[in-house]
Amino acid sequence: MNSYLLSLLKKETSYKIVLFNNLDKKAQTLSLYILFLFLTTCSNQKNILLGKSTINIIPKPNSIITGDGPFKLELINKISIENGSNSEKSIAHLFQNHLKPIKTLKIEQLKGETIGKIIISMNPNLNIPEEGYHLTIGNNQSIELKASSFGGLFYGFQSFRQLCDKNLDANIKPENLSIPKCVIEDSPVFGYRGMHLDVSRHFFDVEFIKTYLDMIALHKMNVFHWHLTDDNGWRIEIKKYPLLTKKSAWRIDRTNEPWKEQSPAKENEKPTYGGFYTQNEIREVIQYAADRNIMVIPEIEMPGHTSEVFAAYPELSCKGEFIDVNPGSYWPNVDIFCAGNDNVFVFLENVLDEVSELFPGPYIHIGGDEADKLNWANCTKCQNRIKTEELKNEHELQSWFIKKIEKFILKKNKKLVGWDEILEGGLAKTATVMSWRGMQGGIESAKSGHEVIMCPTSHCYFDYYQANPETSPEAIGGFTTLKKVYSFNPIPNELLENEKHLVLGAQGNLWTEYVQTPERAQYRVLPRMTALSEILWSGPGNNTYEDFYFRLKHLLKRFETLNWSYAPGSFVVSINPDHQSIDQKYKVNIFSEKPGEKIRYTLDGTDPAQTSFIFKKPIVINKRTTIKAALFIDNVRAGKISDKTVFFSKAMGKNIFYNNIYSERYSGNGPLTLVDGMTGTIAHNDGYWQGWEKSNLDVIIDLQHNELISMVSIGFLESQKSWIFFPTLIKISFSNDRKLFSEESRIRIGDGYKNNTANRKLFKSKQLNISARYIKIQAINRETCPDWHPGFGGKAWIFSDEIIVE
Ligand code: ACM
Ligand code: ZN
Repeated sequence: MNSYLLSLLKKETSYKIVLFNNLDKKAQTLSLYILFLFLTTCSNQKNILLGKSTINIIPKPNSIITGDGPFKLELINKISIENGSNSEKSIAHLFQNHLKPIKTLKIEQLKGETIGKIIISMNPNLNIPEEGYHLTIGNNQSIELKASSFGGLFYGFQSFRQLCDKNLDANIKPENLSIPKCVIEDSPVFGYRGMHLDVSRHFFDVEFIKTYLDMIALHKMNVFHWHLTDDNGWRIEIKKYPLLTKKSAWRIDRTNEPWKEQSPAKENEKPTYGGFYTQNEIREVIQYAADRNIMVIPEIEMPGHTSEVFAAYPELSCKGEFIDVNPGSYWPNVDIFCAGNDNVFVFLENVLDEVSELFPGPYIHIGGDEADKLNWANCTKCQNRIKTEELKNEHELQSWFIKKIEKFILKKNKKLVGWDEILEGGLAKTATVMSWRGMQGGIESAKSGHEVIMCPTSHCYFDYYQANPETSPEAIGGFTTLKKVYSFNPIPNELLENEKHLVLGAQGNLWTEYVQTPERAQYRVLPRMTALSEILWSGPGNNTYEDFYFRLKHLLKRFETLNWSYAPGSFVVSINPDHQSIDQKYKVNIFSEKPGEKIRYTLDGTDPAQTSFIFKKPIVINKRTTIKAALFIDNVRAGKISDKTVFFSKAMGKNIFYNNIYSERYSGNGPLTLVDGMTGTIAHNDGYWQGWEKSNLDVIIDLQHNELISMVSIGFLESQKSWIFFPTLIKISFSNDRKLFSEESRIRIGDGYKNNTANRKLFKSKQLNISARYIKIQAINRETCPDWHPGFGGKAWIFSDEIIVE
């Protein structure tokens, strides 16, 4: 039994997170080979699986050696447990239930003969990493599962389950009664493999929470982060504060209106949408999770994202006013706990008292994200607190707030987790940080010795679109495809060798503004969580996307058997410059999310058809060309046609120096994006745009020798919905030595105007007649959103896709 489960029984809090188990690969291979010899009855029929395996387990095990031929499950007559522990017994029951459609197997204590048995043994002294397992199928007509912990046995069973016919998952007698003979030795790379669910924006009942836990378990993930409180509903029963579930859990029903445009409450309108979990239901969920080796982390938001509390206890906010629980989006989100009011801390400590009693795991998440400090700035009590505590500003007040809560949480023998905003104004000493606004918060935290969980929006926000927004159910925005998730590496390059262990792992987040039903929740996370699970279990970069995709096709069939909905993924192909060779020969690459399916393309402007060229290797382009391409499945076009025109310019492929680096979140196609001959669409996250938040574009292009220049043009995006504006001014200057620049052209754009539709515009210099080697381009960001914009005062972006030099 692992220490977390032990703690459930003993009420102690010593969950251990396993990190980077570095198995001795040579020793492992040798012992596997000896077992392998047992397995091969026909010595010339060895089939060591590489690449596209016939064993399709996800996440992919560390090591699989297949034996000769299949093993008939009919040969199994009994389930034997070696030591008789509860862990062994509960895993024996999993095998028993799973194989019920084939035959009824009795569970017994192991004695003597092993033929015809499933043998389950757990022994903490075994040399198997925590959560790891050894599974041997078919040796001596038996199945053997060994582990040093309950988690290991559980994951061994999950692998066995994936080896079996998917119909067994639906309790149907399968077509296939055989599984491959094999030896699997397996353990995870990351100790923290999490999935988050927001139950405030939309409420999900206990039945679905259990299904979500089943999904987590099948993927060998081990943390459920339960986002229990937020502006749109409080979801956890707190005995001391009954109004939280009587009032704060309910809102007027605007389910059928767009989230961002819900109409205000009418007079006497009753809140009818909502719900909450009783403490008994929460205990039931925790036990259900523990049975699946899953730790539950509760999140109680503070100091912001708490307006729902003020429907019940308005005196706890700075303004002290009653607020209805908001039925939809809530912006600007200024209502906040009053940091100057001692009663707020009495309330929070009483809440956290009950929360820490309920949840046996070591962590309590206190939110901390997106706390607007406007009301603190205008509140006498908060300003007094700043004075008496000798704080500099509201950021330090937030830090003071979190540290005060940290002290309380430590007294309860728990550890505080918070979103990366808790870094602002100084990080609490023992805090674990969830890095969501990119990796930077995580890097900073790890560098100061804090544990980190990575969940950057770019790869881990499963509320984002995963395919063409035009043909997808409405999502909050963004664009994170399956392949993108699979490319995730939770360990940033910026970390030194001795800092890397502080990254405990990563987690997929599902915010539910646009997730109204359980089906939609599954659709959003499946199969992106499948990709993340493999990154976390098998390690980033250890398998190819192609190999993963091949195995995924099998797993999707199992999802169907289980009645789990999932997204079909992106059918759009992406056309990209091949940056490797850009300075010698310009080549174009075409990618799809569906390896194995054909991509057809044209270079003459016509739409690709069944007879068009099939893309096989990068295409050489040497003049202005429009490339059109699409995915063809079973000879039928699947998905939209993508098209890109390559613009040849004197800047193409030339060295570009950034005096001010673009945002990590919007990095386009890398450093050459602005000189790669390709322009973006009006979607700011299509991969062709680079973005700068509240800062300027400031680059120098080196043409390598003096060139005669007649015009410089720069592409910019305006997408005000996403807080992206044209620059207010563009300055273009030239130099022969990169030291002395003379300015030759200014393009004044000014303050702009309200525009609801996104558009791309090419801003051109005046006609020039200049000979120069270096071109400097500076585009000035307006820095904050203008007063006519809903984000007034918030940070403004500028986005550029290409610089064309003629
Ligand atoms: C967050 O997405 N506000 C943590
Ligand atoms: Zn206040």
